[in-house]
Amino acid sequence: MKNMNTATLQHSVNKPEDTTAQFYADVIEGLQSTPKQLSSKYFYDAVGDKLFQDLMNCDEYYPTNCELEIFTEQTAEICRAMMGNGEVFDLIELGAGDAMKSTYLLKYLLEQKANFSYLPIDISDNVINYLNMTLPVTLPGLQVTGLNGDYFDMLKKAASLSNRRKVVLFLGSNIGNMAVSDAEEFCKQLRNHLSNGDMLLIGIDLKKNPKTVLAAYNDKEGITKRFNLNLLDRMNRELDADFDVTKFEHYPMYDPETGSCKSYLISLEDQQVKVREETVSFCKDEFIYMEISQKYNVMQTNQMATGAGFKPLNIFFDSKKWFIDAIWMAE
Ligand code: AVI
Repeated sequence: MKNMNTATLQHSVNKPEDTTAQFYADVIEGLQSTPKQLSSKYFYDAVGDKLFQDLMNCDEYYPTNCELEIFTEQTAEICRAMMGNGEVFDLIELGAGDAMKSTYLLKYLLEQKANFSYLPIDISDNVINYLNMTLPVTLPGLQVTGLNGDYFDMLKKAASLSNRRKVVLFLGSNIGNMAVSDAEEFCKQLRNHLSNGDMLLIGIDLKKNPKTVLAAYNDKEGITKRFNLNLLDRMNRELDADFDVTKFEHYPMYDPETGSCKSYLISLEDQQVKVREETVSFCKDEFIYMEISQKYNVMQTNQMATGAGFKPLNIFFDSKKWFIDAIWMAE
């Protein structure tokens, strides 16, 4: 769940026991492996959502504004491409969050009297309840069926609900939070859940001046730093851990050759940390690998499409050519 209006939407205070058990199991596995690592999917609790909101509004974090510019300046072209020959379709959004960006497309499609239903998918039931309640009010006439759960389970469910053509949205360069091989595998799996003629609209951050990329993950205000450190705090809150966040330092790095931007937390001293009954030892300067934000060039995105069984149809760039939303057709 990202981009959420946290003032409107409360996270469940009492988490289901199995969610916390999974969080604990993943944390222990990650902290006991070499090198140590934590999954960035756990960044997004209520505090993390708020920090991500702040991040999207900070000067250096460009991807959100780039994609917003694409959606506001090229709405008609994008919608025309998605509508194909005008037949009825299901518009499915993976990880819809507050659907802020997709609302530009939904509004335009409604104005064009396009025959479609919107099926946002999100792992958070709060998000889905919120969208089911608010979207029909803010966008009168919109048919919304929110689906709460894992992306691929919910894609199967969407296929069982109707045999209409599917257009899937996967925005915000969320694909970048997977290593390249995982992203390729994800696109193949996604393709396997679709039929010939279905489409994917995917937002991807491009390689650019390394300083611009690095600054986006090392903002002057220190929001990205707090965003990373919040995961240690989250473990203190939810897993009875005793991390002292002042003893860890945020270290982002960008490799212009591979396009991978990675974030680490560095232990500033030898220390031991308790997470429930487990004790984890850190050496001075040891790192925890926190997140990848992979950047691509256009040729690589086309190769990823064809390698997964899609045909690249359209590419929409922002004016700086820093970000693309690409339309791929399953074939
Ligand atoms: C959600 N995702 C695409 C963001 C990114 O750019 O990788 C998450 C993020 N991490 C640090 N800043 C933003």
